[in-house]
Amino acid sequence: MTKQLRRVEVSLGERSYDILIGYNILQQFSLSLRERCSEKEIILISDTTVYGLYGQQLIKYLTNDDWKVIEYIMPTGEEAKSWNQAGSILTKMLEANLSRNSSVIALGGGVVGDMAGFAAALYRRGVNFYQIPTTLLAQVDSSVGGKVAVNHPLGKNMIGTFYQPQEVWTDLTLLDTLPLEEWRAGLAEVVKYGVIWDEDFFLFLETNADKVLQRSAEVVPDLIKRCCQIKAEIVSQDERDEGLRNILNFGHTIGHALESATQYKKYRHGEAVAVGMLGAFLLAQQMNMLDAEVVERFRKLLIKWGLPCSFSSCLLEKAVHNLIYDKKVAQQKLVFILPQKLGKVVIEKGITQELVESAMEKLLIKETSL
Ligand code: NAD
Ligand code: GLY
Repeated sequence: MTKQLRRVEVSLGERSYDILIGYNILQQFSLSLRERCSEKEIILISDTTVYGLYGQQLIKYLTNDDWKVIEYIMPTGEEAKSWNQAGSILTKMLEANLSRNSSVIALGGGVVGDMAGFAAALYRRGVNFYQIPTTLLAQVDSSVGGKVAVNHPLGKNMIGTFYQPQEVWTDLTLLDTLPLEEWRAGLAEVVKYGVIWDEDFFLFLETNADKVLQRSAEVVPDLIKRCCQIKAEIVSQDERDEGLRNILNFGHTIGHALESATQYKKYRHGEAVAVGMLGAFLLAQQMNMLDAEVVERFRKLLIKWGLPCSFSSCLLEKAVHNLIYDKKVAQQKLVFILPQKLGKVVIEKGITQELVESAMEKLLIKETSL
Protein backbone atom coordinates (compact mmCIF):
# COMPACT_ATOMS: atom_id res chain seq x y z
CA MET A 1 0.00 0.00 0.00
CA THR A 2 1.38 3.42 -0.91
CA LYS A 3 1.21 5.70 2.08
CA GLN A 4 0.37 9.35 1.58
CA LEU A 5 3.56 11.34 1.21
CA ARG A 6 4.16 15.05 1.31
CA ARG A 7 6.97 16.05 -1.02
CA VAL A 8 9.36 19.00 -0.98
CA GLU A 9 11.94 19.46 -3.71
CA VAL A 10 15.35 20.92 -3.00
CA SER A 11 16.06 22.45 -6.36
CA LEU A 12 19.79 22.38 -7.14
CA GLY A 13 20.09 21.51 -10.83
CA GLU A 14 21.63 18.07 -11.24
CA ARG A 15 21.95 17.76 -7.45
CA SER A 16 18.20 18.30 -6.89
CA TYR A 17 16.43 15.87 -4.60
CA ASP A 18 13.16 15.22 -2.80
CA ILE A 19 12.27 15.26 0.86
CA LEU A 20 9.44 12.75 1.40
CA ILE A 21 7.38 13.24 4.54
CA GLY A 22 4.82 10.85 6.01
CA TYR A 23 3.92 8.40 8.76
CA ASN A 24 5.25 4.82 8.81
CA ILE A 25 7.22 5.10 5.60
CA LEU A 26 10.34 3.00 6.29
CA GLN A 27 9.09 0.11 4.16
CA GLN A 28 8.18 2.46 1.35
CA PHE A 29 11.70 3.89 1.56
CA SER A 30 13.20 0.40 1.21
CA LEU A 31 11.08 -0.38 -1.84
CA SER A 32 11.99 2.90 -3.47
CA LEU A 33 15.69 2.35 -2.75
CA ARG A 34 15.54 -1.03 -4.51
CA GLU A 35 14.18 0.62 -7.62
CA ARG A 36 16.78 3.38 -7.61
CA CYS A 37 19.98 1.53 -6.79
CA SER A 38 22.03 -0.36 -9.34
CA GLU A 39 24.31 -1.83 -6.67
CA LYS A 40 22.79 -3.89 -3.86
CA GLU A 41 25.20 -2.74 -1.19
CA ILE A 42 24.26 -0.55 1.75
CA ILE A 43 25.87 0.70 4.92
CA LEU A 44 23.38 1.74 7.58
CA ILE A 45 24.78 4.27 10.05
CA SER A 46 22.92 4.96 13.29
CA ASP A 47 23.55 5.64 16.98
CA THR A 48 22.95 3.16 19.78
CA THR A 49 19.69 4.77 20.93
CA VAL A 50 18.05 5.11 17.53
CA TYR A 51 19.33 1.75 16.33
CA GLY A 52 17.86 0.14 19.46
CA LEU A 53 14.47 1.66 18.63
CA TYR A 54 14.24 1.35 14.85
CA GLY A 55 17.35 -0.39 13.51
CA GLN A 56 15.99 -3.93 13.30
CA GLN A 57 12.76 -2.79 11.66
CA LEU A 58 14.66 -1.00 8.91
CA ILE A 59 17.16 -3.83 8.47
CA LYS A 60 14.27 -6.25 8.04
CA TYR A 61 12.89 -4.18 5.16
CA LEU A 62 16.31 -3.67 3.59
CA THR A 63 17.71 -7.18 3.69
CA ASN A 64 15.23 -8.99 1.49
CA ASP A 65 16.62 -10.89 -1.51
CA ASP A 66 20.33 -10.70 -2.06
CA TRP A 67 20.96 -7.22 -0.69
CA LYS A 68 24.10 -6.78 1.36
CA VAL A 69 23.55 -4.51 4.37
CA ILE A 70 26.33 -3.73 6.80
CA GLU A 71 25.80 -1.71 9.95
CA TYR A 72 27.84 0.91 11.75
CA ILE A 73 26.42 1.86 15.14
CA MET A 74 28.07 4.86 16.76
CA PRO A 75 27.83 6.02 20.37
CA THR A 76 25.05 8.51 21.10
CA GLY A 77 25.99 12.16 21.52
CA GLU A 78 27.93 15.04 20.03
CA GLU A 79 31.36 13.66 21.08
CA ALA A 80 30.89 10.89 18.52
CA LYS A 81 30.92 13.41 15.66
CA SER A 82 34.67 13.11 15.38
CA TRP A 83 37.43 12.58 12.87
CA ASN A 84 38.25 9.23 14.50
CA GLN A 85 34.66 8.04 14.16
CA ALA A 86 34.70 9.04 10.47
CA GLY A 87 37.89 7.03 10.07
CA SER A 88 36.28 3.95 11.64
CA ILE A 89 33.26 4.21 9.32
CA LEU A 90 35.50 4.50 6.26
CA THR A 91 37.56 1.52 7.44
CA LYS A 92 34.38 -0.52 7.80
CA MET A 93 33.31 0.45 4.27
CA LEU A 94 36.72 -0.51 2.87
CA GLU A 95 36.77 -3.81 4.74
CA ALA A 96 33.36 -4.61 3.24
CA ASN A 97 34.76 -3.58 -0.14
CA LEU A 98 31.75 -1.38 -0.88
CA SER A 99 31.75 -0.13 -4.45
CA ARG A 100 31.31 3.41 -5.80
CA ASN A 101 27.64 2.63 -6.45
CA SER A 102 26.91 1.57 -2.89
CA SER A 103 24.67 3.64 -0.60
CA VAL A 104 25.07 5.19 2.83
CA ILE A 105 21.88 5.47 4.90
CA ALA A 106 21.81 7.75 7.94
CA LEU A 107 19.20 6.74 10.52
CA GLY A 108 19.33 9.21 13.38
CA GLY A 109 19.48 12.82 14.49
CA GLY A 110 21.77 15.57 13.28
CA VAL A 111 24.88 13.93 14.70
CA VAL A 112 24.36 10.72 12.71
CA GLY A 113 23.27 12.63 9.59
CA ASP A 114 26.28 14.97 9.59
CA MET A 115 28.67 12.10 10.30
CA ALA A 116 27.22 9.67 7.73
CA GLY A 117 27.08 12.39 5.07
CA PHE A 118 30.71 13.23 5.73
CA ALA A 119 31.71 9.58 5.28
CA ALA A 120 29.54 9.28 2.14
CA ALA A 121 31.23 12.35 0.64
CA LEU A 122 34.73 10.95 1.24
CA TYR A 123 34.35 7.26 0.45
CA ARG A 124 35.69 6.65 -3.06
CA ARG A 125 35.18 10.40 -3.67
CA GLY A 126 31.47 10.16 -3.00
CA VAL A 127 28.76 7.49 -2.88
CA ASN A 128 24.94 7.63 -2.73
CA PHE A 129 23.63 9.13 0.48
CA TYR A 130 20.13 8.81 1.98
CA GLN A 131 18.92 10.51 5.13
CA ILE A 132 16.26 9.19 7.51
CA PRO A 133 16.19 11.96 10.13
CA THR A 134 14.78 10.96 13.52
CA THR A 135 14.82 14.15 15.63
CA LEU A 136 12.71 17.23 15.05
CA LEU A 137 15.88 19.25 14.53
CA ALA A 138 17.14 16.81 11.93
CA GLN A 139 13.77 16.67 10.14
CA VAL A 140 13.43 20.45 9.83
CA ASP A 141 17.05 21.47 9.50
CA SER A 142 20.13 19.25 9.45
CA SER A 143 18.91 16.68 6.90
CA VAL A 144 18.19 19.45 4.38
CA GLY A 145 20.85 21.37 2.48
CA GLY A 146 23.89 19.12 2.40
CA LYS A 147 26.11 20.52 5.15
CA VAL A 148 28.09 17.55 6.46
CA ALA A 149 30.91 17.76 8.99
CA VAL A 150 32.75 16.44 12.00
CA ASN A 151 33.92 18.40 15.02
CA HIS A 152 37.52 19.24 15.85
CA PRO A 153 38.87 20.02 19.33
CA LEU A 154 39.46 23.56 18.01
CA GLY A 155 35.89 24.05 16.78
CA LYS A 156 32.50 22.50 16.11
CA ASN A 157 31.69 21.46 12.51
CA MET A 158 35.09 22.76 11.41
CA ILE A 159 35.98 19.84 9.12
CA GLY A 160 33.32 19.32 6.50
CA THR A 161 31.93 19.89 3.06
CA PHE A 162 28.68 20.30 1.12
CA TYR A 163 27.30 16.95 -0.01
CA GLN A 164 23.65 16.66 -0.95
CA PRO A 165 21.73 13.43 -0.32
CA GLN A 166 19.89 11.48 -3.03
CA GLU A 167 16.69 11.68 -0.99
CA VAL A 168 15.51 12.46 2.51
CA TRP A 169 12.83 10.19 3.99
CA THR A 170 11.20 11.92 6.93
CA ASP A 171 9.13 9.42 8.90
CA LEU A 172 7.01 11.34 11.42
CA THR A 173 6.21 8.15 13.38
CA LEU A 174 9.82 8.07 14.56
CA LEU A 175 9.26 11.29 16.51
CA ASP A 176 6.94 9.48 18.96
CA THR A 177 9.90 8.28 21.02
CA LEU A 178 11.81 11.56 21.00
CA PRO A 179 12.27 12.89 24.56
CA LEU A 180 10.36 16.11 25.32
CA GLU A 181 13.57 18.13 25.79
CA GLU A 182 14.74 17.17 22.30
CA TRP A 183 11.34 18.10 20.87
CA ARG A 184 11.53 21.51 22.54
CA ALA A 185 15.07 22.10 21.30
CA GLY A 186 13.88 21.33 17.75
CA LEU A 187 11.04 23.86 18.15
CA ALA A 188 13.62 26.63 18.47
CA GLU A 189 14.77 25.89 14.91
CA VAL A 190 11.13 25.67 13.81
CA VAL A 191 10.19 29.14 15.06
CA LYS A 192 13.38 30.48 13.51
CA TYR A 193 11.86 29.88 10.06
CA GLY A 194 8.84 31.98 10.98
CA VAL A 195 11.01 34.86 12.10
CA ILE A 196 13.47 34.84 9.21
CA TRP A 197 11.13 34.06 6.32
CA ASP A 198 7.41 33.67 6.87
CA GLU A 199 5.22 35.78 9.16
CA ASP A 200 2.16 33.60 8.44
CA PHE A 201 4.09 30.56 9.64
CA PHE A 202 4.96 32.43 12.85
CA LEU A 203 1.24 33.20 13.31
CA PHE A 204 0.41 29.53 12.71
CA LEU A 205 2.88 28.53 15.45
CA GLU A 206 1.52 31.15 17.84
CA THR A 207 -2.07 30.11 17.24
CA ASN A 208 -1.32 26.41 17.54
CA ALA A 209 1.36 26.61 20.24
CA ASP A 210 -0.25 23.95 22.48
CA LYS A 211 -0.88 21.48 19.66
CA VAL A 212 2.68 22.00 18.46
CA LEU A 213 4.08 21.25 21.92
CA GLN A 214 1.87 18.15 22.17
CA ARG A 215 3.07 16.94 18.73
CA SER A 216 -0.49 16.78 17.43
CA ALA A 217 -0.86 15.04 14.08
CA GLU A 218 -3.19 17.93 13.17
CA VAL A 219 -0.23 20.29 12.90
CA VAL A 220 3.05 18.35 12.77
CA PRO A 221 3.05 17.22 9.09
CA ASP A 222 2.34 20.71 7.75
CA LEU A 223 4.77 22.26 10.21
CA ILE A 224 7.62 20.01 9.13
CA LYS A 225 6.79 20.43 5.46
CA ARG A 226 6.77 24.23 5.74
CA CYS A 227 10.16 24.27 7.50
CA CYS A 228 11.63 22.04 4.79
CA GLN A 229 10.13 24.24 2.06
CA ILE A 230 11.67 27.35 3.58
CA LYS A 231 15.09 25.78 4.04
CA ALA A 232 14.92 24.30 0.51
CA GLU A 233 14.11 27.71 -0.93
CA ILE A 234 17.04 29.36 0.85
CA VAL A 235 19.51 26.57 0.02
CA SER A 236 18.40 26.57 -3.63
CA GLN A 237 19.39 30.22 -3.84
CA ASP A 238 22.68 29.91 -1.94
CA GLU A 239 23.84 26.31 -1.62
CA ARG A 240 27.35 27.15 -0.41
CA ASP A 241 26.42 29.67 2.26
CA GLU A 242 27.91 32.72 0.56
CA GLY A 243 25.13 35.17 1.40
CA LEU A 244 21.43 34.50 1.88
CA ARG A 245 21.96 31.14 3.64
CA ASN A 246 23.62 33.06 6.51
CA ILE A 247 20.14 34.00 7.71
CA LEU A 248 19.69 30.42 8.88
CA ASN A 249 22.20 31.37 11.55
CA PHE A 250 19.68 33.70 13.17
CA GLY A 251 20.19 33.42 16.94
CA HIS A 252 23.32 31.35 16.49
CA THR A 253 25.92 34.05 17.31
CA ILE A 254 24.91 34.43 20.96
CA GLY A 255 23.78 30.78 20.97
CA HIS A 256 27.23 29.48 19.97
CA ALA A 257 28.89 31.81 22.47
CA LEU A 258 26.76 30.31 25.26
CA GLU A 259 27.37 26.75 24.09
CA SER A 260 31.13 27.19 24.01
CA ALA A 261 31.13 29.13 27.33
CA THR A 262 29.61 26.00 28.89
CA GLN A 263 31.82 23.52 26.96
CA TYR A 264 28.75 22.29 25.03
CA LYS A 265 27.52 20.54 28.18
CA LYS A 266 24.76 22.76 29.57
CA TYR A 267 22.57 23.55 26.57
CA ARG A 268 21.11 21.54 23.75
CA HIS A 269 21.86 23.44 20.54
CA GLY A 270 18.24 24.56 20.11
CA GLU A 271 18.07 25.80 23.71
CA ALA A 272 21.13 28.01 23.23
CA VAL A 273 19.70 29.24 19.91
CA ALA A 274 16.44 30.17 21.68
CA VAL A 275 18.32 32.47 24.07
CA GLY A 276 20.38 33.76 21.14
CA MET A 277 17.29 34.57 19.05
CA LEU A 278 15.77 36.51 21.93
CA GLY A 279 19.11 38.35 22.27
CA ALA A 280 18.92 39.29 18.58
CA PHE A 281 15.34 40.58 19.08
CA LEU A 282 16.49 42.71 22.03
CA LEU A 283 19.41 44.05 20.02
CA ALA A 284 17.08 44.99 17.16
CA GLN A 285 14.72 46.69 19.60
CA GLN A 286 17.64 48.61 21.08
CA MET A 287 18.51 49.80 17.57
CA ASN A 288 14.89 50.95 17.05
CA MET A 289 14.38 48.37 14.32
CA LEU A 290 11.23 46.86 15.83
CA ASP A 291 8.68 47.33 18.60
CA ALA A 292 8.77 45.91 22.11
CA GLU A 293 5.41 44.25 21.44
CA VAL A 294 6.96 41.97 18.78
CA VAL A 295 9.80 41.03 21.14
CA GLU A 296 7.28 40.09 23.83
CA ARG A 297 5.26 37.94 21.41
CA PHE A 298 8.42 36.02 20.60
CA ARG A 299 9.39 35.67 24.27
CA LYS A 300 5.88 34.45 25.14
CA LEU A 301 6.12 31.64 22.57
CA LEU A 302 9.50 30.50 23.92
CA ILE A 303 8.09 30.46 27.45
CA LYS A 304 5.03 28.50 26.36
CA TRP A 305 7.27 25.84 24.83
CA GLY A 306 9.53 25.74 27.89
CA LEU A 307 12.55 27.10 26.05
CA PRO A 308 15.10 29.23 27.97
CA CYS A 309 14.86 33.02 27.70
CA SER A 310 17.77 33.95 29.96
CA PHE A 311 21.17 32.80 31.16
CA SER A 312 23.22 33.03 34.32
CA SER A 313 25.23 36.23 34.88
CA CYS A 314 28.33 34.16 35.64
CA LEU A 315 28.46 33.22 31.93
CA LEU A 316 28.33 36.78 30.59
CA GLU A 317 32.04 37.56 30.53
CA LYS A 318 33.01 34.23 28.94
CA ALA A 319 30.18 34.40 26.42
CA VAL A 320 31.11 37.94 25.32
CA HIS A 321 34.75 36.87 25.00
CA ASN A 322 33.68 33.93 22.82
CA LEU A 323 31.56 36.21 20.67
CA ILE A 324 34.59 38.26 19.74
CA TYR A 325 36.36 35.10 18.58
CA ASP A 326 33.30 33.77 16.78
CA LYS A 327 33.88 33.06 13.09
CA LYS A 328 31.40 35.74 12.15
CA VAL A 329 33.56 38.61 13.48
CA ALA A 330 34.89 40.83 10.69
CA GLN A 331 37.28 43.76 11.31
CA GLN A 332 36.41 44.15 14.98
CA LYS A 333 32.72 44.60 14.23
CA LEU A 334 30.21 41.86 14.85
CA VAL A 335 27.92 40.47 12.18
CA PHE A 336 24.39 39.84 13.40
CA ILE A 337 21.22 38.63 11.77
CA LEU A 338 18.54 40.93 13.13
CA PRO A 339 14.74 40.86 12.76
CA GLN A 340 13.18 43.89 11.04
CA LYS A 341 9.72 42.46 11.47
CA LEU A 342 8.29 38.98 11.82
CA GLY A 343 9.20 37.14 8.62
CA LYS A 344 12.07 39.42 7.66
CA VAL A 345 15.66 39.66 8.88
CA VAL A 346 18.70 41.64 7.75
CA ILE A 347 22.40 40.84 7.97
CA GLU A 348 23.94 43.74 9.94
CA LYS A 349 27.72 43.99 9.67
CA GLY A 350 28.65 46.88 11.93
CA ILE A 351 27.44 45.88 15.39
CA THR A 352 29.68 47.03 18.22
CA GLN A 353 30.60 44.91 21.21
CA GLU A 354 28.96 47.47 23.52
CA LEU A 355 25.59 47.11 21.79
CA VAL A 356 25.70 43.33 22.04
CA GLU A 357 26.77 43.39 25.68
CA SER A 358 23.93 45.70 26.52
CA ALA A 359 21.39 43.39 24.80
CA MET A 360 22.90 40.36 26.52
CA GLU A 361 22.63 42.02 29.92
CA LYS A 362 18.87 42.11 29.36
CA LEU A 363 18.96 38.31 29.11
CA LEU A 364 20.57 37.73 32.49
CA ILE A 365 18.66 35.73 35.06
CA LYS A 366 17.40 38.16 37.69
CA GLU A 367 19.01 37.30 41.04
CA THR A 368 16.33 37.71 43.73
CA SER A 369 17.37 38.41 47.31
CA LEU A 370 15.65 36.17 49.83
P1 NAD B 1 21.41 14.16 18.13
O1 NAD B 1 21.63 13.57 16.80
O2 NAD B 1 22.53 14.05 19.12
O3 NAD B 1 20.09 13.53 18.76
C1 NAD B 1 19.68 13.94 20.05
C2 NAD B 1 19.38 12.74 20.93
O4 NAD B 1 18.15 12.17 20.54
C3 NAD B 1 20.41 11.63 20.85
O5 NAD B 1 20.60 11.12 22.13
C4 NAD B 1 19.73 10.59 19.96
O6 NAD B 1 20.18 9.28 20.22
C5 NAD B 1 18.30 10.77 20.36
N1 NAD B 1 17.31 10.40 19.35
C6 NAD B 1 17.36 10.67 18.03
N2 NAD B 1 16.22 10.30 17.45
C7 NAD B 1 15.44 9.75 18.39
C8 NAD B 1 14.15 9.19 18.39
N3 NAD B 1 13.39 9.16 17.29
N4 NAD B 1 13.66 8.69 19.57
C9 NAD B 1 14.40 8.77 20.70
N5 NAD B 1 15.62 9.31 20.77
C10 NAD B 1 16.14 9.80 19.61
O7 NAD B 1 21.04 15.71 18.04
P2 NAD B 1 20.23 16.60 17.01
O8 NAD B 1 19.68 17.70 17.81
O9 NAD B 1 19.34 15.80 16.16
O10 NAD B 1 21.38 17.15 16.05
C11 NAD B 1 22.39 17.98 16.52
C12 NAD B 1 23.52 17.96 15.51
O11 NAD B 1 23.02 18.46 14.27
C13 NAD B 1 24.70 18.83 15.89
O12 NAD B 1 25.89 18.10 15.69
C14 NAD B 1 24.64 19.99 14.91
O13 NAD B 1 25.92 20.50 14.59
C15 NAD B 1 24.00 19.33 13.71
N6 NAD B 1 23.29 20.25 12.80
C16 NAD B 1 23.60 20.18 11.49
C17 NAD B 1 22.96 21.00 10.59
C18 NAD B 1 23.24 20.87 9.13
O14 NAD B 1 22.79 21.71 8.35
N7 NAD B 1 23.95 19.84 8.73
C19 NAD B 1 21.98 21.91 11.04
C20 NAD B 1 21.68 21.96 12.39
C21 NAD B 1 22.35 21.12 13.28
N1 GLY C 1 21.85 25.07 9.70
C1 GLY C 1 22.45 26.08 8.91
C2 GLY C 1 22.59 25.76 7.46
O1 GLY C 1 22.20 24.70 7.02
O2 GLY C 1 23.09 26.55 6.74
